[in-house]
Amino acid sequence: MQSRVVAVEEGKENAVSIRTNQTKALPQRLLPLLVLFLALCVVFTVISMYTIRHFGVQNLVTSVSSSLQPCFEEPGGLEKYIKPPSNLMHNMTDEQLLWRASFVPRIKNYPFQRVPKIAFMFLTKGPLPLAPLWERFFKGHEGRYSIYVHSLPSFEAKFPSSSVFHNRQIPSQISEWGRMSMCDAERRLLANALLDMSNERFVLLSESCIPVYSFSVIYNYIRRSKYSFMGAFDDPGPFGRGRYDEHMSPDVKITDWRKGSQWFEVNRRLAISIVEDTKFYPKFEQYCRPACYVDEHYFPTMLTIEAGNMLANRSITWVDWSRGGAHPATFGGSDITENFFNRVREGHRCLYNNRNSSVCFLFARKFSPSALEPLLHIAPKVLGF
Ligand SMILES: *[C@@H]1O[C@H](CO)[C@@H](O)[C@H](O)[C@H]1NC(C)=O
Ligand SMILES: *[C@@H]1O[C@H](CO)[C@@H](O)[C@H](O)[C@H]1NC(C)=O
Ligand SMILES: *[C@@H]1O[C@H](CO)[C@@H](O)[C@H](O)[C@H]1NC(C)=O
Repeated sequence: MQSRVVAVEEGKENAVSIRTNQTKALPQRLLPLLVLFLALCVVFTVISMYTIRHFGVQNLVTSVSSSLQPCFEEPGGLEKYIKPPSNLMHNMTDEQLLWRASFVPRIKNYPFQRVPKIAFMFLTKGPLPLAPLWERFFKGHEGRYSIYVHSLPSFEAKFPSSSVFHNRQIPSQISEWGRMSMCDAERRLLANALLDMSNERFVLLSESCIPVYSFSVIYNYIRRSKYSFMGAFDDPGPFGRGRYDEHMSPDVKITDWRKGSQWFEVNRRLAISIVEDTKFYPKFEQYCRPACYVDEHYFPTMLTIEAGNMLANRSITWVDWSRGGAHPATFGGSDITENFFNRVREGHRCLYNNRNSSVCFLFARKFSPSALEPLLHIAPKVLGF
């Protein structure tokens, strides 16, 4: 640049005369060159397109797209983070699943329209004999619930595609009552349900449970509750504090020790506390073995320590222990009467959002398959669905 300026300064006349000559000569001399260049460009483009489509480069494109197939199928943008998994069956180990489920957004407000759902988590041996009652319960409330079923791994579910239970089975393992494998199954249910960002409340149920109110009543009752319905009480007797092992201290002190029914309801925050727990789990696994029934103590105690102020300390699943023994009463066809449900639904007093309430139980157990027909019959009039 500088040399050019100097040259111009040295002989302005020369430079100007040369430039005028050039400006006249350029168009005539360059035009054919330009046309030739353009023609070459077109030819080259055609050749290279042909080459890309039919030779080496094409192989590269195919191999990249086939190895990244799942990525291309996923929706772009925010969708892919908020869309629940389309298939509940996955190949994650429990360790991988719990890790994945513990992801938490740090910003409180959701930047999209979020309809909070209740996750109904069925912990079962296999079949769901009361499924037709549940089908009716859920009908018309799509988008406000999701269903997860954990059964014995050997059980093969065969629900028609019209059923709300169709393809809602999660990868399961054997779980034994009173053992850590039972809590593992519950954590597995929670973790799978957490993968759906819209699930806000999580209810654990069994195949012998039934709802005793309509979907809307249950949905609003749970949604509007400031507390989660985890049964947790301090039982000073041999079946309460008597099951505590000194080895658990100082993480778990005897004053923290709680007992409660396995059939809980927790919000998203508590569900995450449960799946992310690595502090209390080893203690309970090691020091709470029969006759310490870990599924009655682990979650109530752990959550009392970590978030006691979020617990209602009562269960919303009614059960009848009045007959005594190791198992609660099971109700069959002949038990299903209007009076029976008056007893379940009313005649209780409890606190709901710090106020006295007579609606204390939303679910009830245990019901045998023989109860199904009478239940279907009585449900519209007595249960409201
Ligand atoms: C899980 O792994 C098996 C074998 O590796 C495979 O056939 C199956 O498609 C996988 N399932 C999913 C949901 O990825
Ligand atoms: C449940 O119990 C914990 C302590 O164990 C307490 O902090 C909490 O306030 C109780 N919840 C309600 C609703 O009273
Ligand atoms: C609930 O009712 C009992 C009497 O049954 C009363 O003593 C108590 O103060 C009431 N609690 C509230 C929060 O209203």
